[in-house]
Amino acid sequence: MRIAVVGSGYVGLVTGACFADLGHDVVLVDNDDKKLEALNNGEVPIHEKFLPELLQRHRDGRIKFSGDLQAATRASEIVFIAVGTPPTESGDADMSYVESVAREISGAIDGYKVIVEKSTVPVYTNEWIRTIITRNGTNPELFEVASNPEFLREGSAVTDFLYPDRIVVGVDGERAAKMMREVYSPLTSGWYYGRAHAIPRPDKAQIPPRLIITSAQSAEIIKHASNAFLAMKISFVNAVASICESVGANVEQVCDGIGTDSRIGPRFLKPGIGYGGSCFPKDLLAFRAVAKEVGYDFRLLEEVIRINEEQRRRFLRKVRSVLWTLRGKRLGVLGLAFKGGTDDIRESPALLLVQELMREGCKICAYDPAAMDRAKEAISQVNCNGIEFAGDPYQAAKGADAVLILTEWEEFATLDLDELRKAVKYPIVLDGRNLYDPATMMAHGFSYYSVGRPPAIKQEAQLARVAKREHA
Ligand code: UDX
Repeated sequence: MRIAVVGSGYVGLVTGACFADLGHDVVLVDNDDKKLEALNNGEVPIHEKFLPELLQRHRDGRIKFSGDLQAATRASEIVFIAVGTPPTESGDADMSYVESVAREISGAIDGYKVIVEKSTVPVYTNEWIRTIITRNGTNPELFEVASNPEFLREGSAVTDFLYPDRIVVGVDGERAAKMMREVYSPLTSGWYYGRAHAIPRPDKAQIPPRLIITSAQSAEIIKHASNAFLAMKISFVNAVASICESVGANVEQVCDGIGTDSRIGPRFLKPGIGYGGSCFPKDLLAFRAVAKEVGYDFRLLEEVIRINEEQRRRFLRKVRSVLWTLRGKRLGVLGLAFKGGTDDIRESPALLLVQELMREGCKICAYDPAAMDRAKEAISQVNCNGIEFAGDPYQAAKGADAVLILTEWEEFATLDLDELRKAVKYPIVLDGRNLYDPATMMAHGFSYYSVGRPPAIKQEAQLARVAKREHA
């Protein structure tokens, strides 16, 4: 099929590249000339596994980049809108980019087309898009609006797209439903998975995926409710982890016991320093705003947000309780991205903690496998005194009063512990992501503090008492 994808941000790029790999002809539209030039020159603006090879595979073939939205609309049967919907001051999503795309598309609808909202949007957006397009003079018979929420995680967005748990399409008319079925048929029929150059199947992916057709409003709610539920799962387990710390239980064992109940499931039950990223924090605020607007006081969401913020403060208290005073302390920080596998630092709990520690007077030496450039830029806007960046984890740990693990990079879970031990000034590790087994850390001579598990403290009886008191 001939598809236009509007917006070459994270969702748009991945969507466009994957549609091309499914055999569709894609025009990726953006109004940022610099971005288009970079894409045309073969640059890949985001750190995402398999994306460079998909773009390389289809550049100059099935995927083209363009600044001309009207021409792209005329040339396509389906237009996916994947532009940003940043939060406003009050938390609701700013829909002005979506609106301006709808307005511009309107002038180019010269035959039947399906306009699909892919951005995360509040309920009724599809109706607004329809209204704007009609208001600008398009015959309503010539188009339909569908909602096709994405469930892409950063770092695994390409495989999430090609091996999804489900595909949700919210659409009210049969003609548009048929076209959307066709768009995804390479996946739902299993055709893609038999191809020689298909992106490899991740463990546990069920193929072929199910396509769920719903009303447009239901699809919009599915997106908000899915993200809110996942964030709630994380906040829930973080709250349980805090109780585990108080009673001396081990949250890992608790999660094993909870997660094996098939009604609950083991995923998204990892405690830590809280969720971050460009989606959960923003989507929770947006869902809360939607609920408020329709007169529902969704206080559960407030609590999810509150627990998430408290989780970071709790970790900071833990650092303080272990190190006693913070001013002048040298900390080796491993991780700045909001999670492993990405260079994204938006709402990163790791970065927020680093900034807090800097305010407290700590000297930070940080390392992240992918997010350092972005972190440097973000920190330089606030304050760059007290932070330096290292070339590897051991350099970050050199001479440190303590090492803090703040992002769940695989690389940080397989460190050479003897080398780390040699690098530090004091063998203290505070792990905000529970990457290590406490007994292993102790065997390597570390005092090890994690989240929701009893600390493993070596020859620090005094410290143990203080830390225990703090945990309680
Ligand atoms: C999320 C959703 O998973 C995805 O479906 C949606 O389309 C976009 O938002 P993403 O933001 O890429 O994806 O990251 P995700 O892997 O969901 O992690 C979000 C945050 O939660 C990260 O900060 C991560 O560290 C944290 N997390 C995740 C936990 O603290 N514990 C967990 O068990 C899982």
